Amino acid sequence: MSHEPVLLKESIDFLITKKSGIYFDGTAGFGGHSKEILNRLDEKGKLIATDKDQSAFEHCIKKFANDKRFSVFHTGFTNIDSISKIEFIDHFDGIFADLGVSSFQLDTVESGFTFREDAALDLRMNKDEGISASEILNKFSQEDIAKILFDYGEEKNSRLIAKKIIEFRLNEKISRTSQLKNIIEQVTPVRFLNKSLSRVFQALRIYVNNELEELESFLDKSFSLLSPGGRIVILSYHSLEDRIVKEKIKHESLSCICPPGMPICTCGKIQKMKLITHKPVVPGDLEIEKNRRARSAKMRVAERV
Ligand SMILES: C[S@@+](CC[C@H](N)C(=O)[O-])C[C@H]1O[C@@H](n2cnc3c(N)ncnc32)[C@H](O)[C@@H]1O
Repeated sequence: MSHEPVLLKESIDFLITKKSGIYFDGTAGFGGHSKEILNRLDEKGKLIATDKDQSAFEHCIKKFANDKRFSVFHTGFTNIDSISKIEFIDHFDGIFADLGVSSFQLDTVESGFTFREDAALDLRMNKDEGISASEILNKFSQEDIAKILFDYGEEKNSRLIAKKIIEFRLNEKISRTSQLKNIIEQVTPVRFLNKSLSRVFQALRIYVNNELEELESFLDKSFSLLSPGGRIVILSYHSLEDRIVKEKIKHESLSCICPPGMPICTCGKIQKMKLITHKPVVPGDLEIEKNRRARSAKMRVAERV
């Protein structure tokens, strides 16, 4: 099992402000960032982690079995508030998330996250919740499928692909990644094929995992659960996620949202966060050369005031 952690040193340098603090890693994955967080904490420090993926969860249990400072939950990071109650934690000194899927999920054929190999068309990180990508393609209307591909994949050919999906399913149930790949191949020029395949698979993955809504809810809860001076560090890999992180941090960094020209402030807005990275931090050429997945990474950091 392997996953090369992205912006490892940079992200944890920003995150840790207190050696004996309590930290949260919402996307434990294969424990790359979690391990580095634990390395920087002293014996009083604590790290609470979550991951939706069963294999990632089991991997982390084994990896940190001998470290009493670490606990991991098999659930979505949006449950950070319930978890903090279970663990009797009022506030965290730092909250971290490295969004999306791991290289392990992408490289494991049975996970069905890649269009490069044939597998069941599921795309759920937690196979026990929600509906699979196959159910969407077999049950949703043409308009709804086109909307998902456009909204979450920014796929320009979304209407035509959705039409072909409906035609295909009249004869055959769509249950394999190879069937979806064939449908897209029929309507996409070869030079755009890989991009279109990535966009369609990304769109379905975001939809079935409710990724954008969960990210918004996680950020809102996290801002309130940070101690003053505590930091939130988020690594994102596509523009839809990054836009949410950027906008949410920007909104929480304002102390007034009254329309311009108001003589006095009446909005009652309270500033919760202070921006630490004014521009997103991105990996250098060397890291991108070693780890292709790093090429689209953007990191944003903010601090609770
Ligand atoms: C990029 S990987 C994290 C890799 C990790 N930082 C490491 O160094 O090993 C993203 C992980 O987040 C998990 N994940 C994605 N969305 C999640 C969510 N809403 N809640 C919990 N886990 C999530 C995925 O299952 C995956 O294991």
